[in-house]
Order: sequence, then C-alpha cells, then structure tokens
Amino acid sequence: MKEIVCKTENKHKYRILIQKGLREDLGKMPEIFDDHAKIVIITDKNVGKYYLASVKKQLRHYGGEVYAIVIKAGEASKCLSEVEEIYFRLQELNFTRKDLIVALGGGVVGDLAGFVAATYLRGVEFVQIPTSLLAQVDSSVGGKTGVDLGYQKNLVGAFYQPKAVLIDPGFLETLPDAWLTDGMAEVIKYGCISSSKLFLRLMSFHYQEDLMDDMEEIVAKCVTIKRNIVESDEHEQGIRRILNFGHTIGHVVESYFEFDRYSHGQAVAIGMYQITNMSVREGITPPEALSNLQLILETYGLPWQLPQMETKKVLEILANDKKSEGDTLNICIMPKIGRAEIVKIQKDQALELFK
Ligand SMILES: NC(=O)c1ccc[n+]([C@@H]2O[C@H](COP(=O)([O-])OP(=O)(O)OC[C@H]3O[C@@H](n4cnc5c(N)ncnc54)[C@H](O)[C@@H]3O)[C@@H](O)[C@H]2O)c1
Repeated sequence: MKEIVCKTENKHKYRILIQKGLREDLGKMPEIFDDHAKIVIITDKNVGKYYLASVKKQLRHYGGEVYAIVIKAGEASKCLSEVEEIYFRLQELNFTRKDLIVALGGGVVGDLAGFVAATYLRGVEFVQIPTSLLAQVDSSVGGKTGVDLGYQKNLVGAFYQPKAVLIDPGFLETLPDAWLTDGMAEVIKYGCISSSKLFLRLMSFHYQEDLMDDMEEIVAKCVTIKRNIVESDEHEQGIRRILNFGHTIGHVVESYFEFDRYSHGQAVAIGMYQITNMSVREGITPPEALSNLQLILETYGLPWQLPQMETKKVLEILANDKKSEGDTLNICIMPKIGRAEIVKIQKDQALELFK
C-alpha cells in the first residue's frame, strides 16, 4: 500500500491511500470510518451498479447505519438543484455533524459530494473514493469542490479538504475506455509539468496492458506531484496554476463546442499541444519537446490539432475565463518536458494561439 500525506494551510492533514484491491478492505479501516453513527454514500448509477452493494456491506462492519444516494451519471448532475436534493435527503436522514459522507465515483460525484460536505451544517466530514482515472490522479486530491452554473463549469464551490482519499486502481477495470483515455490527458500533463521520467515511462508503454499493470505506480506519482503543488499553494494564488497546463486553450475548445464535441481530456490535449507550439515558435521550448508531445498524445488516442473556430466567439469565451485577472491571462507553458512556468499574456494577444 502506498501512503501519501497531504497537509493543508490550516494544519488539516489527511491520508491518501493507494492500493489495487483496496475496495475490498474498506471494512478494516476503523481510524477512518469508526465513530460515525451514519455514513451516507453518494455515488452515480454507473458506479453504483458495480460497487455500491459491496462498499455498503463493508461499511456496515462499523456498526452504524449506512445509506446511499444515487445520482444520474454525467456532468449535468453537478448542479445546484442536485445539491438541494441531496440536502433534503440528508435532512430526512437526520444527518448530523458527527456523521460521514463518502463520495464513491468519478470527478462529478467527488466535486458534488465534496461541495455538499463543505456546506451542509456548515461543513461535515467526507471521504473520497475516486473511481475514474481523472478522479484518482486529479480531482480527489487538493480540496476543490463545486458545481457548474449553466454552461460555466465549477463557478460555485469551496476549497474543502476530505478526511481521507482511498484509491483503488482496480476500479479502472470497469471504466469505459473513452474515460480512461480522457484521464490519460491529465496523467500526461503531470509528466509535462513536473516529471520527464513519468513522461518517458508513459512513452514506453504499449497501450493498454502495460499501462494497467503499472497503474498503481502511475497514480501514486501523479498524486505525489499534485500533493506537492497543492501543499505549497492550496488556494491557487501561484504555483498551483501550473496544474492548468493546456487548460486555457482547452477550456475555450470545450466551451466553443458547448461541451459536446470534445471531452475535457481531449480539449486539454489540444491545449497542451497548442500552447507548446507557441512556446516553440517563441524559442522557449525545443522543437523535439513538441514532437514528443504529439507522439505521446497520438499513442494514447488523444487529439492535438486545433479545430476551426470563429475569432469573435473565442474572444467572448476568453473574456469570461474565470482564471483571468482583468485583461491578463496567466498561462502555463512547458520550457522543457518536466518543467512548467507561468507567463502573463494580454487577452488580445491570446488570440494568436487560435490561429
Ligand atoms: N476538483 C478538482 O480539482 C477537479 C479536477 C479536475 C476535474 N474535476 C471535475 O471532474 C469532473 C470529471 O470527472 P470524471 O472525468 O471522473 O467524470 P465522471 O465523474 O462523469 O465519470 C466519467 C464516467 O465514468 C463513469 N465511471 C466512473 N468510474 C467508473 C468505474 N470505475 N467503472 C465504470 N464507470 C465509471 C461515470 O459514471 C461517468 O459516466 C468534471 O466535473 C471536472 O470539472 C475536478
């Protein structure tokens, strides 16, 4: 078992445990699950179908009551009306501050359940059990919780850290391939911004068997990178912005096509390639880094070419980028594989990135 500890600014400390098969050991973790009269598992229909019965059964070992709230799968559930429904269910169950929420699912469930935990009764404890690759390497660690408002993603939320994060890469066996590919964009991102070793390792795999065999190590490496970044900048005032590598352009691509044509991972892949294309043109990044990036994205079935987009609409989306400061955008670039830097550019200059 790999154990990574994450410490936050307000001295909260939580453990991130990573092990294949961990989902069968949930009944043996009294330090996490004891002392809660009620445990409410929040999951979605897809994940629930495979794992809810077993997780429930194991959590019953602690002697308390165990309930489940099952939401519809998909981003559309990450909204305020779903939050309200869950609040009402918790109220019906007489959920108190001594009880526990368990988020069992991908990033949608994690962000939503985390936001409910951050706000119900002004904050209750919650445990993350991430089941998608993206959730295991990214969203379950770092304490960002929240929901979308209309088409604006993650507009309402809170920084709220979990009590523990329990990661079983074995969950990925049932994750549909398209979602695995999607999560790989974030894994590749960690290689780009922080570890050339990880990048090279990913390049050496013959997709998908070798990758799955090595998944425990890969997830642990990504989580360690994320933990290190989050510990030094919990509220994204500086260094944490490097986690957004590929995300500024990616966000434009996703939004432009109304979250329909490109998945998040695909959009980030395009974003990472295009921003690196720019830094190569500027003489900051060596051209080999760009060709290696293209190769790795192709290996994992991710796109890198920018689709045709109208300037006016691109500008509108950039104007609403919630990570901007006035007319300035903080953009992450990769001077070489394994290193990241934040540069500031004017929004009108950013248009160059879309030509
Ligand atoms: N909080 C953060 O720091 C952070 C970071 C990145 C992304 N996010 C958020 O994460 C969300 C995306 O997360 P996601 O990609 O996990 O999407 P998701 O939660 O929608 O999961 C993807 C799909 O896979 C299914 N699924 C998940 N695990 C499964 C399993 N083991 N077996 C079978 N099916 C499974 C889900 O039901 C869903 O259909 C977005 O809302 C994004 O904004 C948050």
